Amino acid sequence: MKMERVAESLKSKVMSADAAAQLIKTGMVIGVSGFTSIGYPKDVPLALAASGHATDLSIYVGAAVGDEVDGELVRKGLIKRRYAHQSGKDLRNAINAGEIAYSDVHISHFPMHMNQKTGPNVDVALVECTAVTEDGLYLAASGGTADAAVRTADFVIIEVNKNLPMGLMGMHDIFEIGLPPNAKIIPITKPDERVGTPYIPCPPEKIAAIVMTEGHDEPQKFKPASPAIAKIGENVVSFLKGEIAAGRLPEDPGPIQSGVGTVGNAVLSGLASSGFKGLSMYTEVMQDSAIGLIEQGVFNFASTSSIALAEDTKKRFYENIDFFKDKIVVRPQEITNHPEISRRLGVIALNTPIELDIYGNVNSTHIMGTKMMNGLGGSGDFARNARISIFATESTAKGGAISCIVPMVSHVDQTEHDVAVIVTEYGVADLRWKTPKERVELIIENCAHPDYRPMLREYYEHAFEISAGKHTPHDLEQALSWHQRFLDTGSMKK
Ligand code: COA
Repeated sequence: MKMERVAESLKSKVMSADAAAQLIKTGMVIGVSGFTSIGYPKDVPLALAASGHATDLSIYVGAAVGDEVDGELVRKGLIKRRYAHQSGKDLRNAINAGEIAYSDVHISHFPMHMNQKTGPNVDVALVECTAVTEDGLYLAASGGTADAAVRTADFVIIEVNKNLPMGLMGMHDIFEIGLPPNAKIIPITKPDERVGTPYIPCPPEKIAAIVMTEGHDEPQKFKPASPAIAKIGENVVSFLKGEIAAGRLPEDPGPIQSGVGTVGNAVLSGLASSGFKGLSMYTEVMQDSAIGLIEQGVFNFASTSSIALAEDTKKRFYENIDFFKDKIVVRPQEITNHPEISRRLGVIALNTPIELDIYGNVNSTHIMGTKMMNGLGGSGDFARNARISIFATESTAKGGAISCIVPMVSHVDQTEHDVAVIVTEYGVADLRWKTPKERVELIIENCAHPDYRPMLREYYEHAFEISAGKHTPHDLEQALSWHQRFLDTGSMKK
């Protein structure tokens, strides 16, 4: 029997995007579906932007959505507050100009706060779906906070996107944890275990509008991987193999989590020629390389909150969705990033910092200490709770004018206590069991760019000389002078 996108009993709720947008009023909180620009609503936000009738909106999003929300509504000046992760240029500029109030929250914490109603309640959940039945909402290729938004919202507006393959139905696994002290144990003991429903349960009376749409998600754009990034991938693989050879990891080293962006995507693709087979992912986002690795048999399964692909790979994924269907599960971000599961499954976390310091503290979010980039995403969730927390970056940025390894990070997202291993194109610094002084030596000698090593050594030796405490020596006056030098002269080099 041909599956309908909208159940017969719900068809009376179908209306235009303009009519649905009119249900949203000034000052409302909108809980938007989508994660890393996948599965977000498009037509209702565009109608809202065109009408301009509703201002001072607060937008709750799992992790970054496309220009229809994070661009159009920003340019029209309709957004007052925005949570949690973002990556749109106009939104970022508005945040950094102080025009939009923004708070960066751990991916696992945000739906927890929504469910526990610690902040302003969601007025309306605005959710893109593949289909909607009397049971509930079948999402697009992401999970995010859509379940928390639907659960806590006063009413729900659904965009049913006719361009989404019906094969996405059944790929999701929605599990409601509930509220402490009666929160449930999440019974996932392997990445491929399904513990919930393939839809977000939603009583039909809560659905205020259904809009039929045909838009497309913004395709991911990855810069070409440099030889340095390829080398980082090789270094990660040889580190993992060393751990297996030393008996510290099993032959299947455990589910892998990999972060967003060009570096994360390229580093993961290093697994292609590693000889590993039959591995799994327990991650919040799958990018292009993960799809290729499933096709090659390097991964036999991936649990994720988003399938975020460049145009060509998305086409390949949609056309072969039957092949991928039993190899991927899409979960809410509260489940993908839950500390309990990461720790128990022994996730190997692989994230990209903006910069890190000689003691291993990591800045994931702030350029030169003051300008917000994308937000910390799930890096904090996974770094704290993984079996091994790896941060991988090129040793320099901006053509060598910036050292990604500095005396003191200009903003801290992950402390030295959450960072186990650092990898650059020059090598690996395994910080586990190391004292601060030992970490300094490993990070400078194994990971820093050779151009910056003498400056870093000079800084540490001087700091050791003059510092009141010899455990974690710093010259507090000089510690951030590297960043100031870059801001003053365009280079950190002396
Ligand atoms: N100082 C200043 N700028 C820096 C920098 C540094 N130390 N390191 C990188 N950058 C800049 C790059 O030059 C680039 O700028 P451009 O866009 O103007 O070219 C930009 O940051 C992005 O870096 P890029 O090398 O293209 O890598 P990426 O796409 O892999 O993104 C992060 C890197 C750090 C921005 C990205 O991984 C991120 O947002 N991480 C934090 C969130 C996270 O870890 N999430 C993980 C769970 S999904």
